[in-house]
Amino acid sequence: MSPSNASPLLPTASPEASTATGGLPTAAARRFPADFVFGVATSAYQIEGAHDRDGKGPSIWDTFCRQPGAIADASSGDLACEHYDRWEQDLDLIQSLGAQAYRFSVSWPRVRPTGDGAWNEAGLAFYERLVDGIRARGMKAYLTLNHWDLPQALQDLGGWGARATVDRFVEYAEGMGRRLGTKVASIATHNEPWVVAQLGHESGIFAPGLKDRRLAAQVSHHLLLSHGRAIQALRALNLPATLGIVLNLSPIYPATDSAADRAKAVLEDGKLRRWYMDPLFKGHYPLDVLEHLGEDAPQVQPGDLALIQQPIDFLGINYYSRGMASADNSFDAKHSGLPLTDMGWEIYPQGLTDLLVSLHRDYPEARRLYVTENGGAFPDPVSQDGQVHDADRTCYLDTHIAAVGDALQQGVPMGGYMVWSLLDNFEWASGYEKRFGIVHVDYATQKRTPKDSALAFRDFLRGRTASSQG
Ligand code: FCB
Repeated sequence: MSPSNASPLLPTASPEASTATGGLPTAAARRFPADFVFGVATSAYQIEGAHDRDGKGPSIWDTFCRQPGAIADASSGDLACEHYDRWEQDLDLIQSLGAQAYRFSVSWPRVRPTGDGAWNEAGLAFYERLVDGIRARGMKAYLTLNHWDLPQALQDLGGWGARATVDRFVEYAEGMGRRLGTKVASIATHNEPWVVAQLGHESGIFAPGLKDRRLAAQVSHHLLLSHGRAIQALRALNLPATLGIVLNLSPIYPATDSAADRAKAVLEDGKLRRWYMDPLFKGHYPLDVLEHLGEDAPQVQPGDLALIQQPIDFLGINYYSRGMASADNSFDAKHSGLPLTDMGWEIYPQGLTDLLVSLHRDYPEARRLYVTENGGAFPDPVSQDGQVHDADRTCYLDTHIAAVGDALQQGVPMGGYMVWSLLDNFEWASGYEKRFGIVHVDYATQKRTPKDSALAFRDFLRGRTASSQG
């Protein structure tokens, strides 16, 4: 741990040099309240490695990565960024950037290897050290319980398709609440339940790799139900931590003004946004999507919707790009004229403002909103000087943070913004081919090199501190 903001990895800057990178000029021109939190985000499977160490059980991602063809570069999170061993250095790095918060996730099978039965003290102790380390560096810990790495033993019993998994998740949430709930600033139940349901159970491109629309709909219901029941259990513990959930959301625009494209945009918005937001905040599923699902609509038991609609303290939003709907699926981002990231996603910061403003208008019940992930993958070659001059990512962050500032200006109750991601890491089905980090990772040596975007983010945060003091 470092006693100050100095890190051996970053050049120590004199006050005059503190905006040497130019910071994030567009973002710096916006106003953010003093209690607005800026942070960085990661998730357990993507960075920890140590997949079988100290009693950890296998997760569905450990299993999925071993399926031939599942991961673009045939890799896995077995080693990843070796964060399990390098966490202190990584926390020093976050501190040196001046981030106020670190959003990370707990690997469920590391703390309860089969999702049932005995807890693993070594795993619990790891997260306790991590959280203590975050706090000792003057930062806030934002904990996510489920960033997709379900214990494989629970998958063997039906996974999220089985209602019993809801009970297991509530036990897990309560256990983590008891162990860490007084030390963390915030607990999110799930990260992006749409991804788990849709990509994990309908298209099958993510773990557990199933292709069954009816199952996917049931999974989404169980995820929501487990969220509500976990919030109830955590609330009963009277913790100081704020409680909420993280959704992946995008505004969906019709590709043309035709009635067919507009109708498609409404349905797509229903599947992505209203399917989750309506039960969370209004106590029902959207009728148009239920109709669209027909016989594949989930089995909902009496009382479930009331359980899902627990009051929460915050809604986390992961935003990467806009969505475009065309009735004949002819829209192609490659020809939209917008710049694209290395994932092929359009760069559209206005979409983030539009999204936040419309969420606040349609769901005033969501009392505080956070951008819990935002960032871009870019090719990021290491230059001859050993640095990574990622001007594209710096610009992405600059314009998107400014977009959050615009939403604030329009009255949206924003609480914070977290960059995805601190480190280059295991990007799920893309393996290590896509780099989202503001810090470069050389996977052969595990060397971390802050990219220009990290230095610009640091300088932006320094400028903010200086102006609030002055
Ligand atoms: C989000 C995930 C995160 C990361 C980014 C790029 O959907 O929550 O783990 O993969 O996308």
